[in-house]
Amino acid sequence: MTVDRKVTERRENEPVFPDLSLIVAADADGIEAAAHRLRAGGLIGLPTETVYGLAGSAHHADAISRIFSTKGRPADHPLIVHIAAAGQLSDWCRDIPQYAQNLADQLWPGPLTLVLPKQPHVSASLTGGQDTVGIRVPAHPVAQAILATAGPVAAPSANRFGRISPTTAHAVAAELATYLEPGDMILDGGDCAVGIESTIVDCTDERPRILRSGFYGDDVIAQSAGLPLATADGKPTPRVSGSLTAHYAPRTPLHLHSAESLKQRPASRLLGTWILAPADVDCDVADAAETMIRPASSEEYARILYTTLRAADDAGAREILAVPPQGNGIAVAIRDRLQRAAAGSGPDPATDVPT
Ligand code: TXA
Ligand code: MG
Repeated sequence: MTVDRKVTERRENEPVFPDLSLIVAADADGIEAAAHRLRAGGLIGLPTETVYGLAGSAHHADAISRIFSTKGRPADHPLIVHIAAAGQLSDWCRDIPQYAQNLADQLWPGPLTLVLPKQPHVSASLTGGQDTVGIRVPAHPVAQAILATAGPVAAPSANRFGRISPTTAHAVAAELATYLEPGDMILDGGDCAVGIESTIVDCTDERPRILRSGFYGDDVIAQSAGLPLATADGKPTPRVSGSLTAHYAPRTPLHLHSAESLKQRPASRLLGTWILAPADVDCDVADAAETMIRPASSEEYARILYTTLRAADDAGAREILAVPPQGNGIAVAIRDRLQRAAAGSGPDPATDVPT
């Protein structure tokens, strides 16, 4: 990837100086302290391979209620329960179809969440009052170590409701430092390798249905499940906050473009903008923009997407212009996140190109 940054002016009243003292290295001592905090009913920022989670013990009612208040999340939005291994699935779920077991066996640990009917003991506060529960086995070694020592955790993405998911410990601090309590901590497990949230698959019907796109695309899910996916059938969609139209939004206006529509922008309207475009897209407007970010693959695009949107906010960028990646798999999820992130910005006034 190439990054060409010409000017990085900071808007005077918009600096982000989060309290970094909450960040703890994820070495043996840090992991032990964080596990201790979870067992005591506290919260931690937890690195996973997708994005950072805000984790609390899945068995601790106070911890679960604090997750909602810390995020500012409505109580009817369900949480994902993170478990150490696929073998624990039946502790939380019942009526597990063979195709869901196939998905668990083949793609866990990894960036996949399965929605299944819940066991009767699973608290309605975890499931947002629904009869189903979302379950995931994360692959990140720090998350694995925490789950092995502290037991299952409920962990939504560690951002305030409606904001961009954090992919670094610093971004978790920027989102939540002022909302966490003394004793809570953020484990620093480095930058997230995937960079966008897990693929969510509804496994409550005869066929798997994708509720949220992610690292694994339709092909991999259908192949691993051993069944074709369910098509849209008018069935009511369960509450998935990531499916709200205006979600994952940066503060900086974001407009989506093709390489051609970008060229229609007058050069004067490119000053101060950040352009995010795949490296293989021909982008000859580069000279006028402030910062050019050119990921070399869709995987890299996903990895840097949220950090780029945050960096543009922090730098006081005037506008972000993004050319979405083409193709299947993770590119579908990137287009989905970009469309939601751009939804609040409306059409691009400089080109009249609908977003
Ligand atoms: O990659 C991820 O999935 C990250 C990491 C931390 O694991 N977690 C994450 O959690 O993105 P969250 O809460 O930000 O998004 C999970 C989504 C929510 O939109 C929630 O509504 C949906 O999963 N979800 C959870 N349980 C569900 C259920 N029983 N039925 C339908 N949707 C569910
Ligand atoms: Mg989220």
